[in-house]
Amino acid sequence: MLNRDSLPAASRPSIRRAGAEELLRLWRGRSGGNTPPTAVFFADHIRHENAEFWALERSGELIGELYVFKSLPDRDFADGRTKAYLCAFLVREADRGKGLGSQLLSAVLTRLKADGFRYATIGVEKGDEANLRLYRRHGFSVTIKECRLDPCFMDEEMRPRACPCFLLLSKTL
Ligand SMILES: CC(C)(COP(=O)(O)OP(=O)(O)OC[C@H]1O[C@@H](n2cnc3c(N)ncnc32)[C@H](O)[C@@H]1OP(=O)(O)O)[C@@H](O)C(=O)NCCC(=O)NCCS
Repeated sequence: MLNRDSLPAASRPSIRRAGAEELLRLWRGRSGGNTPPTAVFFADHIRHENAEFWALERSGELIGELYVFKSLPDRDFADGRTKAYLCAFLVREADRGKGLGSQLLSAVLTRLKADGFRYATIGVEKGDEANLRLYRRHGFSVTIKECRLDPCFMDEEMRPRACPCFLLLSKTL
């Protein structure tokens, strides 16, 4: 039987911290060459070390992403010292449901704890039972509040966009 350890090293997924320029290239590619305001916002915060881009790769190809914000104006999301916000979690469609997202999430949570954070927060759309189950499994057991503004999803004026109601969850690290 093929298991993780019998895979050639190059085809095993690996996780690394990526940079602002990579983010801009990636998000521009997804937007037909345009730079979405949210990409500018993320890149800016990565450059100022208030945000991190964690990339999951296999054979040099990006298969998953997770972003961390350390400080945000709404301290319920991230307070810069004890609490960090995770967002824009994505695994390539063909690779979903194989435990890769969990691997990425666990690695980033471990890293946040090592960096001295005590809590992690994450948003989940109300009624998205699959993601809620995933986050509960990872210990996001506290619901902080319902939100209608996404603090990291920007409009053209670089103001947080209104979005469908989501729950802000928290986990003790
Ligand atoms: C959420 C996501 C990153 C999880 O990555 P993943 O590699 O599929 O996660 P894992 O394989 O470790 O865990 C699978 C769990 O993810 C959840 N999940 C959510 N959407 C899923 C999908 N389309 N396919 C498979 N699992 C999904 C389920 O809870 C599943 O657990 P279950 O066995 O209890 O149903 C990925 O499904 C994804 O990219 N979804 C679309 C974008 C999204 O919803 N992002 C989160 C909100 S910002």
